[in-house]
Amino acid sequence: MELNPIAKPVDRRMRLPGDKSVTHRAILFSTLTTGVGEIHGWLSAADTEASLRVAQAFGSTIREQTSERLVLVGGGGASRWQEPVCPIDCANSGTTTRLSVGLATGAKDQLTIFYGDASLSRRPMGRVADPLTELGAAIWTRKGGQAPIAVRGGGVRGGTVHMAVASAQVKSSLLLAGLNATAPLTVVESIATRDHSERMLMALGAKVDTVEEQRGFRITIEPHPEPFNAMDVRVPGDPSSGAFWAALAALVPGSRLMLEAVSLNPGRLGFYQVLSTMGAKVRFDERGRDPEPWGDIEISSSPLTGMDIPPALVPSMIDELPLVALLASQAAGVSSVRGAEELRVKESDRIQTTVEGLSRMGALIEELPDGFRVQGRSPLRGARVQSHADHRIAMMLTVASAIADGPTTLEGGEAVAISYPAFFDTYRSFVA
Ligand code: S3P
Repeated sequence: MELNPIAKPVDRRMRLPGDKSVTHRAILFSTLTTGVGEIHGWLSAADTEASLRVAQAFGSTIREQTSERLVLVGGGGASRWQEPVCPIDCANSGTTTRLSVGLATGAKDQLTIFYGDASLSRRPMGRVADPLTELGAAIWTRKGGQAPIAVRGGGVRGGTVHMAVASAQVKSSLLLAGLNATAPLTVVESIATRDHSERMLMALGAKVDTVEEQRGFRITIEPHPEPFNAMDVRVPGDPSSGAFWAALAALVPGSRLMLEAVSLNPGRLGFYQVLSTMGAKVRFDERGRDPEPWGDIEISSSPLTGMDIPPALVPSMIDELPLVALLASQAAGVSSVRGAEELRVKESDRIQTTVEGLSRMGALIEELPDGFRVQGRSPLRGARVQSHADHRIAMMLTVASAIADGPTTLEGGEAVAISYPAFFDTYRSFVA
């Protein structure tokens, strides 16, 4: 795919596709409900289609599906699910797989098997299988703790789990298992991760308690084996998708961009805070809370200065860190990201793929075991680059191509279908 540099500053207001994390949860949690629920503004993309396959295997049915709304009839709770007769394809989606493993522990005596593509089958599943097994679940993975992953439902006791990695996917998987545990289940995290599951489960009627302690957060869920009543969910725009255009606006002098009706969940805003600290003008305007805070984010360009990203901010911008590398390459001085080894187990090894792609375009970026270091202000040149089948790398390199001095050839651009199918249409409207 040939990508051309941008010719004029960004100047627009725009809406974004629905938030991926919230859409996954709204779809998967429908399996725990009875009645009809509408997911308004859902993200229709390859990743959320994977969650829809799981939800259907667990008894939810589609009443209506358009690009705007998805109306589901709930699966009636784990005791009503039929045992799936074949393995469920989670494709490229780690969120689908990990949350679904937690859900599947609730279906007593049923065997559920999840599998996915080559990327998913390289990613660590021991991080959910191990703590759930300690709590009494019966789970099998391949030898290295990878998918396919099989769950024999039932047997989960309550207790306390200290999470080994800062991961909202792992936390959510454990909380979902807690709904059918024999006693309350507490998850302890040392750095806060996105809390969409807690908010949505509470809105459904689950008892979830979060207590901030000196060394992190304790989240306790009470067992709730009975089905919840289905509810409507309004999905805000995805700040992780908006981050690509925010970066573009920050990088092209004279730009101004308004992202409308986007999630302002504090667990998702690290990138925008960093953008502001680096020198861009960023303004948040909260317009509602239902139960996710949402509103507008306005970004205007200004010369950027490099910075060291505080490791405590890493979980709140984990998917945006490749974009930080791009911003840092155009910021004065040296920037670094540390404590982000999680990037190595995303859809690609995002430390390696970020460094490779941006180096090819002329950035001065060095790989570190747990992040990267970038020397600022090197002009980027058009080059031949690869997505490595990773949607976020494809989109970051596309934004980089917009400020390069000649055309870029991107291989594997089709990966954007994972989270942002209309990405290139929007990109072309910016560079036209
Ligand atoms: C997600 C959590 C993050 C993020 C992923 C979506 C979620 O993963 O990278 O894109 O919806 O919970 P981890 O929580 O495993 O870091």
